[in-house]
Amino acid sequence: MPNVVAVGLQWGDEGKGKIIDILSEFADVVVRYQGGANAGHTIVVGDEKIVLHLMPSGILHENTCCVIGNGVVLDPATLDAEIRGLKAGGHMLDDGRLLISARSHLIMPYHKKLDGLRENEKKQKIGTTGRGIGPAYEDRASRMGIRVIDFLDKRVFREKVRDNLKLKNFIIQRYYKDEPFRLRDVINEYDAYRDLLKRYVGDNVQFLHKSMEEGKSLLFEGAQGAYLDVDHGTYPFVTSSNTLAGAAACGAGVGPGAIDYVQGVCKAYTTRVGEGPFPTELAGAEGELMRDKGGEYGATTGRPRRCGWFDAVILRRSVIMNGVKAIALMKLDVLDAFERIDVCVRYRIGRKVYADPPLGMKDLSVCEPVYESMDGWREPIGNAASAEDLPVNAKRYIKRLEELIGVPVGIISTGPRRDSTFILQNPFQR
Ligand code: IMP
Repeated sequence: MPNVVAVGLQWGDEGKGKIIDILSEFADVVVRYQGGANAGHTIVVGDEKIVLHLMPSGILHENTCCVIGNGVVLDPATLDAEIRGLKAGGHMLDDGRLLISARSHLIMPYHKKLDGLRENEKKQKIGTTGRGIGPAYEDRASRMGIRVIDFLDKRVFREKVRDNLKLKNFIIQRYYKDEPFRLRDVINEYDAYRDLLKRYVGDNVQFLHKSMEEGKSLLFEGAQGAYLDVDHGTYPFVTSSNTLAGAAACGAGVGPGAIDYVQGVCKAYTTRVGEGPFPTELAGAEGELMRDKGGEYGATTGRPRRCGWFDAVILRRSVIMNGVKAIALMKLDVLDAFERIDVCVRYRIGRKVYADPPLGMKDLSVCEPVYESMDGWREPIGNAASAEDLPVNAKRYIKRLEELIGVPVGIISTGPRRDSTFILQNPFQR
């Protein structure tokens, strides 16, 4: 049975939650492998809107197991609230459907505090989600991190928190002139999460390999998007993990050969939340129309998202970096309102025209998009019964995007509901 990675190809918020939810029906196990509660996946089931930050979106399918991999930085407070919320909504039964890697790292209260203090002080802000992601990954890399396995042992946990607080409090008090953390408060807060979480903790490597031996299918759920990748994104305006498909192997504990197919996910236009260059951004009324029609407000922070036209230059590169086989084109219906639709096909800096994004941020922030203009379809497509049913201009738009980015559109989404999705190429049924 194939194993599939689904990844965002832009700056996050592409609609991965919906795609994972739909593809989960064909997968036995869904695995998160990087990021943390900075992600916000919105899923609409019937009339209910569910927002998940840490829990893999597959949890809404009764027969799917969910794994939070070692590459995730885990905020116990968020997970605790999500488990309680899902149970209250009748979505999660205590039936062994969730496994948390013993080796994932904990987000601690001082990570969130330092994330905020650092942002406040910066002249050139990143616009982080404030969830402590950067400081937690820093601790992992500097080998000061606290892992879930440490958290389960009360004594080990206490010692590690005490050691960490010495340095963190020094920085918080002396450098930022803010209130220090008290060991007792941190321990008491985290003690309250242990009982609920410990029943889910296990060995993700062993579990995933056994699942593959049994012929089960895995779906790896990416968070954020290619241009927020710490290496390949618009650094320093990025998150602190590798968000590309290649990270699925390390963050889940499987070999790269276990990945059979990469499903890219992108919007029919572009959005970005937080700071950083965004060549096709629309500052005026068109951008506002996109934001309104697309409900473009962050699922995690509620911040308005910056909106702009589809950028085939960054998409082409995303496809290459991720090894994408086909894309899921999301929110096509948001473009119903536009008489004319632009697609960025090249960048221009001065007199020079570029087919690839420049390497430096300085150049990326001054590039001007070179657009191709297409006629819009000016009719609602949310109730189209099939891809065949879409207006001619919508089909032309899709075809042109395929030509520009070099891979087919395998899934088309024309609204938030599960049934407004057309699967032309199912990665699990090839
Ligand atoms: P951090 O991941 O909270 O450190 O934020 C770093 C950058 O990534 C900021 O620009 C955030 O807005 C952005 N970011 C992080 N997670 C997401 C996401 O899930 N969707 C969109 N942007 C995100």
